[in-house]
Amino acid sequence: MNKHHDAAVRARRRWRSMVWSMMAIVFLAMALPSAGYLFAQVGEPTGEPQRQFSEQRETNPRSDMWRDGRRGEGGFTTQTGPYVTNQLMTNVGENYRQIRQGPLMTVGGWFLVAVFLAITAFYLLTGQKKIDGGRTGRTIVRWKAYERFLHWFNAICFIILAITGLSLLFGRTVLIPIVGHQAFSSYAEFAYGAHNFVGPAFSVGVLVMIVLWARHNIPKKHDWVWFKEGGGIIGNKHPPAGKMNGGEKVWFWVGVFALGLTVIITGLIALFPNLGFQTREIMSWALIIHATAAILWMGLFLGHAYIGTLGTEGALEGMTRGRVDVAWAKQHHDLWYEDVVAAGEKPVSEEELHGRQQQGPAPGSTPAGERGT
Ligand code: HEM
Repeated sequence: MNKHHDAAVRARRRWRSMVWSMMAIVFLAMALPSAGYLFAQVGEPTGEPQRQFSEQRETNPRSDMWRDGRRGEGGFTTQTGPYVTNQLMTNVGENYRQIRQGPLMTVGGWFLVAVFLAITAFYLLTGQKKIDGGRTGRTIVRWKAYERFLHWFNAICFIILAITGLSLLFGRTVLIPIVGHQAFSSYAEFAYGAHNFVGPAFSVGVLVMIVLWARHNIPKKHDWVWFKEGGGIIGNKHPPAGKMNGGEKVWFWVGVFALGLTVIITGLIALFPNLGFQTREIMSWALIIHATAAILWMGLFLGHAYIGTLGTEGALEGMTRGRVDVAWAKQHHDLWYEDVVAAGEKPVSEEELHGRQQQGPAPGSTPAGERGT
């Protein structure tokens, strides 16, 4: 009985120790390989293994050779010319790419969105600036036919260049997800060609505009009064203005002159890379400055186009028909109006105008805007 009992107890112990052993084997088999993670977390909080690893990599002599090449140190290449001589590799393209994909695209893109939203909000809050007391029905000449042609030539070129330029800058991010790779590829090729073709024509137009219209935009004392009164944009004040008001002069000198010339010069540097002086650095900086100035110019342009259309009643017809209502002229360009009337320009009604057009210009009428700057 006792013998049987002892044998049964031993058998149970053997069985229990076998089960525990099996469980210990399974647990250790799972736990031991993971112990490395535990040591990495608890035992090496400084990330020592990675640092040792990267130190080992930095001392790899083959990597050092490529690193030296990238830093432009020593060496000899068979290529000669203005770009790179005796230089295995250059970082210029990568630096350019980082500026383009980074601040240029993000700050530039959001800047344009912000300007658009600010103008929309301004319009919704203040509405259109109306002609006080309504139109008189009598008009005077503001822009001659060749001036209007020049203006709309530049405006159309600008819009084509802005659309194609923005498509090339933001196409990958914005257009590819919408139209797909193939459609974007065909469009991008067209946009690139159009941009390069219209750019030089626009450059000529802008230079002619600067030469012909600089005289209207010479700063005068009364422009400061115009700025002090906020251009009369809000409220009912009518600050003094010659042919161009203070705001238009800013558009002319900052937009058309400064940003225009910057965009033109950098555009030509990029378009004709073999002029002789362009290194890779000059080319990539030209492109970055070109795009930055163009984006700033587009921001100003949105303001100019808004004021010339939705923002001000009666402004656009000066640039389409060439004539503006007398009430508009007195309200927005009082000094210019007095000047042209003193010089003999006679405001006429529509009936008089049609009669006059049939008979030819009235004797003594002079071209508008020669003195009223
Ligand atoms: C859709 C686009 C545009 C619209 C609706 C527009 C509208 C106008 C209007 C209505 C005027 C006459 C303002 C007045 O009589 O006082 C004007 C003047 C002018 N525009 Fe535009 N414009 C546009 C694009 C452009 C572009 C792209 C440029 C330059 C490249 C430009 C340059 C000028 C200049 C220089 C003046 C004369 C004001 C001054 O000399 O400061 N415009 N524009």
